[in-house]
Amino acid sequence: MSSERCLLLRHARILLPNGEFFLGDVQITGRKIVQVAPEISASSEISGDREIDAAGLTLLPGVIDPQVHFREPGLEHKEDLFTASCACAKGGVTSFLEMPNTRPLTITQETLDDKLRRAADKCLVNYGFFIGATPENLPDLRNAQPTCGIKIFMGSAHGHLLVDHQAILEPIFAQGDRLIAVHAEDQARINQRRQEFVGITDPAIHSQIQDNQAALNATKLALLLSKKYQRRLHILHLSTAEEADLLRQDKPSWVTAEVTPQHLLLNTSAYDKIGTLAQMNPPLRSPHDNEVLWQALWDGVIDFIATDHAPHTLEEKAKGYPNSPSGMPGVETSLPLMLTQARQGRCTIAQVSHWMSTAVAEAYQIPKKGAITPGYDADLVLVDLDNYRPVLREELLTKCGWSPFEGWSLTGWPVMTIVGGQVVYERGKLNTEVRGEALKFGIA
Ligand code: DOR
Repeated sequence: MSSERCLLLRHARILLPNGEFFLGDVQITGRKIVQVAPEISASSEISGDREIDAAGLTLLPGVIDPQVHFREPGLEHKEDLFTASCACAKGGVTSFLEMPNTRPLTITQETLDDKLRRAADKCLVNYGFFIGATPENLPDLRNAQPTCGIKIFMGSAHGHLLVDHQAILEPIFAQGDRLIAVHAEDQARINQRRQEFVGITDPAIHSQIQDNQAALNATKLALLLSKKYQRRLHILHLSTAEEADLLRQDKPSWVTAEVTPQHLLLNTSAYDKIGTLAQMNPPLRSPHDNEVLWQALWDGVIDFIATDHAPHTLEEKAKGYPNSPSGMPGVETSLPLMLTQARQGRCTIAQVSHWMSTAVAEAYQIPKKGAITPGYDADLVLVDLDNYRPVLREELLTKCGWSPFEGWSLTGWPVMTIVGGQVVYERGKLNTEVRGEALKFGIA
C-alpha cells in the first residue's frame, strides 16, 4: 500500500484538456493526479485518505496568475506573501508570478533568493518571481535563477526600475534569451501630459494623462525591439483598442499579451462610482476599448489573463488624486468574475480556464500545470457554477481589505482549492499549514 497521501474527488464535472466536460472521479496521490475515470473504486491500493463528494461542482485546473504585486519585502502594510497567498487560495489561484517593485527591488540574485526563502516559509500556493530590469543590472538579468522572466517598466515607475530610453532598452533586448515582460507606457508622454493637466484632482483625469497613445507608443517600441532581436516578448496588461489592433496586424509567433479582468469589465465610468479605487496603471479605458479587448481575447490576439493584483490601503487611496497610488487587488475575484461572464454567455468555461491556467503554463513553460490529466500536478479548483453571491468587503482576505468589484453578484466561486494534492481552502476555511512550491520554468 502506498504511504503517500491520497485524495479521491468523486462525481465532479471535470474539464478535460480537450475543452470537453466529463462526469467522473479524479484520484490524487501525493502531489500528482494519477487517474481520471468515470468511477474509481476505492481499493486498499488507493488508501483513500479522503474522499470528497464533488457532485454538482465543476473541477478546473488551478488558476495561474501571471502578474501580481504582493509587496513583501518592504511594503507589508499593504500586503504580504502570507495574506496574499491566503487570498489566492480563496480565489482558486494555485500559482502566481510576482513583480519586482518591492523594497528592496528584486534586481539581483540575492534579492531573488530572499523572496524565494520568504515564499517557501509562508506561501500557501506555488510561486515564481520576475527579476526587474534597471539601467545597470544586465548581468543579473542574464544569470539570476530561477525566474519566470525580466520585467521592464517602460513607464509608470520611479527611480531605478524605470527603463524608458531606447538606448538602455536595446542591450536588454539584445543580450540573453529569457522572456521579457513589459509594462508598456510612454513615460515622456505621461510627464508632458501631467504638466498639461496639473491641478486637476478628479481621478478621471488619470485616464487622459496616461492615455491610449502613451500605451501604444511603448507597445510599438517593445514590438520593434523584439522583432529586431527576435526576443521573446510578453506585453503585460494590454489595455487599449489601438494596441490590440496593432497586434492583430503584426504579432510575431514569439510575442504574447495579457489583459486584466478590470480592463475587460470596468471603464472610465468607474471613477464616478469608486473614485481613486478605480485608479491603476495602465488606466481604465472606454467601453469601446472593453469591447475590442474582448474581441482580441476571443480571437487569440490576447493570449491570457492576469490580475495585476496591486493592493494599496484605503488610507493611501483616500489621499486624493494625484497623491493616491495606482493599483487594485484582484486574486480573490478574478476567477468568479470571468466564470460569471461565461455563465452570462460572453465566453465558455473552457475558454476561461484556458486563459487563466493552460495558456499561462504554456507561455511561461511551467511543466505539468494547467491541465487535469494523469501525471500533472494536482493544483485544482472546484467551483460552484449554480449559485450567485456578492463580493463583500468583510469577506476579503487581501490585507488591503477592499475590491473594485464590491457588490457585484458573481457565480463560479471556489468551493475547494487544492495545491500539490493538499486541500488549502474549503468552503470558507483555509488550511494555513499547506505550503506551495517554487515554480520551474522551461520545458523539463
Ligand atoms: O496600477 C498599478 N500598480 N500598475 C502597476 O503595474 C504597478 C502597480 C503597483 O505596484 O502598485
